Amino acid sequence: MDKDRVGKFYDVVWTQYLPEYRESEKHWRLFYSPEEVQNTRVLDAGCGTGLFSVIFASHGTSQVVGIDISEGSLNTGRKLKKKFGLNHIAFQNESMLNLPFPDEHFDIVWAWGTVHHTEDPIGSIKELIRVLKRGGSILLAVYTRTRLTFVHELIRKTLIRTPRKYWRSLSRILAAVLSPVVYFFKKREKSRKGETLEELVLDWYFVPIRHYFRPQEIQNLLEKEGFTVEKFLPASGRFDSTSNFIFKARKTNP
Ligand SMILES: C[S@@+](CC[C@H](N)C(=O)[O-])C[C@H]1O[C@@H](n2cnc3c(N)ncnc32)[C@H](O)[C@@H]1O
Repeated sequence: MDKDRVGKFYDVVWTQYLPEYRESEKHWRLFYSPEEVQNTRVLDAGCGTGLFSVIFASHGTSQVVGIDISEGSLNTGRKLKKKFGLNHIAFQNESMLNLPFPDEHFDIVWAWGTVHHTEDPIGSIKELIRVLKRGGSILLAVYTRTRLTFVHELIRKTLIRTPRKYWRSLSRILAAVLSPVVYFFKKREKSRKGETLEELVLDWYFVPIRHYFRPQEIQNLLEKEGFTVEKFLPASGRFDSTSNFIFKARKTNP
């Protein structure tokens, strides 16, 4: 099943990966303030190793639930929770395609770089919307479709056919090849520091499922579902063609 392939992939790739807390928090503050999250119930959908769950939990939320299908990532999150002494986070192995929560359960749903790795990104977004309270907010960071997407997809579809045991070495080689380009064209701050180029390449070119969208498609969907867009950021990474765009939107209508 595709979902299991994605979970296993992130068990290998993401479990050891921990972005820097301070840099991630800086980015989190582009969308939320400690005042806004006081006493809220938050879902971190596709939480990975859980750093954003920890950030929410450190700023006055009453409950944070981090869900993911990679048990390895969740275990790293559980260690992080212990390290920070945050008892009001729960890390659960669940798929965002079929959440075990009632309708309108959360005040905030945060899905950073995740829905595009499911076999049904639109279905995932609708499921996230289902569990969000009226008046609550959703944050979606989604891969951007650009004119270069077909090139990236060609590379990814070729590379994932190679035996898994070579993936690390191939990422190392690709990272070495790409590093002068990345250095030369450095345009903007990355959304999260603490990741090596090799890890980024592995995540970018070897992941089993990857979908891309244009911002307008997601905006149309959000508006159709009764949301008002509060914030839009066109890119989170260094290059538009390898970036997430981000929407923060509020559920204003039923
Ligand atoms: C690129 S990582 C992002 C992790 C985290 N949001 C962050 O920003 O650090 C994508 C995550 O989505 C998770 N994921 C993919 N499909 C999922 C699904 N159907 N349900 C829950 N999580 C899923 C993966 O296991 C992985 O941890």
